[in-house]
Amino acid sequence: MVREICISKEELIENLEAKGLKQKDLHAKAVNIRDEYLSKNVYFRGLIEFSNICNNDCFYCGIRKSNHHVKRYLMSKDEILEAVEFCNKADYGSIVLQSGERRDKKFVNFVIEVVEEIKKRFPKAGITLCIGELNKKVYQKFFDAGAHRYLLRIETSNKRHYEKLHPREMSFEARKKCLKNLKDIGFQVGTGIMVGSPFQRVENLADDLLFFKEIDVDMVGMGPFISHQYAPLKVDGNNKRNFNLSLNMIACLRILMPDINIAATTALQALHPEGREYGLNAGANVIMPLVTPKRYREYYQLYNNKPCIEESSSECLNCITQRIKSVGLIPKFGEWGDSLHYFRRIKNGYSS
Ligand code: 5AD
Repeated sequence: MVREICISKEELIENLEAKGLKQKDLHAKAVNIRDEYLSKNVYFRGLIEFSNICNNDCFYCGIRKSNHHVKRYLMSKDEILEAVEFCNKADYGSIVLQSGERRDKKFVNFVIEVVEEIKKRFPKAGITLCIGELNKKVYQKFFDAGAHRYLLRIETSNKRHYEKLHPREMSFEARKKCLKNLKDIGFQVGTGIMVGSPFQRVENLADDLLFFKEIDVDMVGMGPFISHQYAPLKVDGNNKRNFNLSLNMIACLRILMPDINIAATTALQALHPEGREYGLNAGANVIMPLVTPKRYREYYQLYNNKPCIEESSSECLNCITQRIKSVGLIPKFGEWGDSLHYFRRIKNGYSS
């Protein structure tokens, strides 16, 4: 049984601003809850950033379509399969296929083919897609091909704020509809936001947490907003504040939704060398080692100072395993590590 936890918006705001001892207490409370519901297990998702070609022009992102400074790539099916093979050998229970957004048929068919081939060659691999907004029919095809999780960050739960971060042709409603469609199809659904994005206030962050609870998500990824030299929006607070706010967001969310999967995101490590360990110590239970081939990493920079671009996939494996152990947690190899929340949601029947 999961205890129903009700926290008011005011209380959330207070916790989000916690510093010093108060912050320590908050993180300790979140860690206790994680350990109680999910034990000390940390699950891996091998992250394959298979293309940086993007049709969107989000004002914060380094691979937005109007950034002409970046070389665009699409990995071949064989290159993707090779990366999956690495995950298989490393015993990462599941993989994430992430890319810029494209809605053309050729791309959609390519993804379906890749997912089917992965399932054929590596039937044990859990597959998560993170490739943006598409229509329900296409999502259904991905699901039928064998993908079972989908990540689509809402970026902010406030419509007016969303409109300040995105060009006119992108709509908050469309993104919300995608999340609903994914859930209706039966995906385990993940979403998330950037912490410290321009125009965001602490109240917005509290609302974001309540939004996650309201739409009853299974997984969340949140990390600090970081400027990119070729994206117009820049950090307007300071990175240290955004780092601490990100950790407090993780802790508050763990308290609010005890049995969901929460990622200790790479962006945390961009701001602090032990950023991901701090994420785990604030209540996260998932980590996403980079499996993108080294030759492509420099072209997939959503923000400046992305860590790990000089490392190989094997170096990432060793480094991350050490990091998990260093904070007294158990790296769980060979398991999908599905969100327990998802199973509870399915069992209880859900409305979306
Ligand atoms: N800083 C931090 N996170 C970013 N993302 C995109 N650009 C940035 C940035 N400048 C995040 C978005 C997106 C995810 C894949 O990466 O939340 O959904």
